[in-house]
Amino acid sequence: MEVIVVAHSKGGTGKSTIIWNLAHFIRSLDKPTIIIDLDFQQTQHYLHRIRTLEGLTNPQNDIPVFRPQTADALINTLENFSDHYILIDVGGYDNDINRIAISWADKIVVPLSDSITDVLGFKTFENILKEIDNPFINIVLNNIHPLTKNFNTIKEAIGSNEDIKLLDTVIRTRKIYKTTMGEGKSVFDINHTVAQDEIKGLYYEIISN
Ligand SMILES: Nc1ncnc2c1ncn2[C@@H]1O[C@H](COP(=O)(O)OP(=O)(O)OP(=O)(O)O)[C@@H](O)[C@H]1O
Ligand SMILES: [Mg+2]
Repeated sequence: MEVIVVAHSKGGTGKSTIIWNLAHFIRSLDKPTIIIDLDFQQTQHYLHRIRTLEGLTNPQNDIPVFRPQTADALINTLENFSDHYILIDVGGYDNDINRIAISWADKIVVPLSDSITDVLGFKTFENILKEIDNPFINIVLNNIHPLTKNFNTIKEAIGSNEDIKLLDTVIRTRKIYKTTMGEGKSVFDINHTVAQDEIKGLYYEIISN
């Protein structure tokens, strides 16, 4: 149905946080959803385990997590679940299997903070993406200080390019993203409409692109 890849070759920019929360929002819309965890840290796999151990999963809301270890296994999973929303958490590094995932993506989302290291890291990643024949990139600002309003520096650093869109959605630094994940929850399991609106905003913006 839709393959959404959240990627950045730099670690710690919020890929797993975004995949986890986005997947739970999409599932809450009653859409069949799976997560593919390509990161050797197995973040999504462990989050799903915590969620199950906490008794939060049931057949109606479960989001299975798959961990294909080879390119063939990845492609099989993509084909077997082609009627699902497939969210792929690629690791913060470049390898063949991550490149295959990116080449299959209907939507590529790159989370960036407004720190210079993230922006410089993106320039390297942009060159990797150019080598993969699937050019359109959605950049979402993540982990942004609640008072930061001016993003001109980052806009300039990204530059103007018809293959890159800096989304209007801004995901702020919120403790709730950390605490919920520690309990195997998403922000949709608790009453926090501000964080929920950030994730919903991201979803509707990427789907409309
Ligand atoms: N919007 C946010 N507000 C607060 N904390 C955040 C936010 N986004 C991410 N974090 C925190 O930053 C850290 C890195 O986030 P996350 O694990 O999602 O990044 P990642 O890109 O998946 O990292 P890795 O490359 O290691 O897989 C985590 O501790 C996470 O809780
Ligand atoms: Mg991660």
